[in-house]
Amino acid sequence: MPYETILVERRGKVGVITLNRPKALNALSSVLMDELARGLDELEADDAIGCLVLTGSEKAFAAGADIKEMQDKSYMDVYKADFITARWEHITRIRKPVVAAVAGYALGGGCELAMMCDFIIAADTAKFGQPEITIGTIPGSGGTQRLTRFVGKSKAMDMCLTGRMMDAQEAERAGLVSRVVPAAELMDEVIKVAERIADMSRPMVMMAKESVNRAYETTLSEGVRFERRLFHSTFATEDQKEGMAAFVEKRQPAFKHS
Ligand code: HXC
Repeated sequence: MPYETILVERRGKVGVITLNRPKALNALSSVLMDELARGLDELEADDAIGCLVLTGSEKAFAAGADIKEMQDKSYMDVYKADFITARWEHITRIRKPVVAAVAGYALGGGCELAMMCDFIIAADTAKFGQPEITIGTIPGSGGTQRLTRFVGKSKAMDMCLTGRMMDAQEAERAGLVSRVVPAAELMDEVIKVAERIADMSRPMVMMAKESVNRAYETTLSEGVRFERRLFHSTFATEDQKEGMAAFVEKRQPAFKHS
């Protein structure tokens, strides 16, 4: 079935999903989030793809959940449907890495969606915020939780209580984004980063992702034990033998992703 609200492209080993409701600043409607889940699954299942990129437009990564769709819902509507979180968390179950390329607004659910990716590369035009408080609600898809872990309590509280935006430079200083690049170079830079990841051994990439994510969900001692078990298991792979042999023989590794 064709997509109406997203674009899915393959650039070599990199799969790119572009949120595509420009007139609504990529407001995250139910249709869009269903299509996003489908697009992610399509790229996850494609053996030729080693890394995913999620992006929006120059003006907006996404300006939040679709307010026009939400405004008249009742408590029972949202409670029974587990609105919207159940559908949104799909992206956190993708095992290949997902890089968010953010230009312009990443607000409310848009900021939450970017934070559900594995890391964020921002254009110098990016603006992050949790403005839900200004429309009489609060973040509903991890904004109060993930933002606090990224930038600490003080900035997270400031943003969630005032609804103010953080620009790209502040976001980089605070640790919300991994790098900031000029807007005109955003996609080229992100594709380069994603290609580099896609050239690595795929199982190692998946294990590294799983292990970093574990840091958020467990104690340090359990996390370190988990990492050590995964590290040991890499010695059962062809790619570990190839990677270390290539280093010793002063050549590039040819990973078999196994
Ligand atoms: C629906 C939206 C929208 C949104 C923008 N639009 N954001 N529609 N839901 N979240 C629409 C506008 O209604 C308008 O449509 C068009 O996009 C252009 O927006 P403008 O406001 O005219 O643009 P501009 O003046 O440049 O202002 C940009 C903006 C502003 C600052 C980003 O649009 C804005 O404040 N948006 C809402 C941000 C927000 O509150 N997000 C949180 C949503 S709640 P028309 O038809 O009039 O041209 C949320 C909760 C998540 O995300 C909960 C868990 C999932």
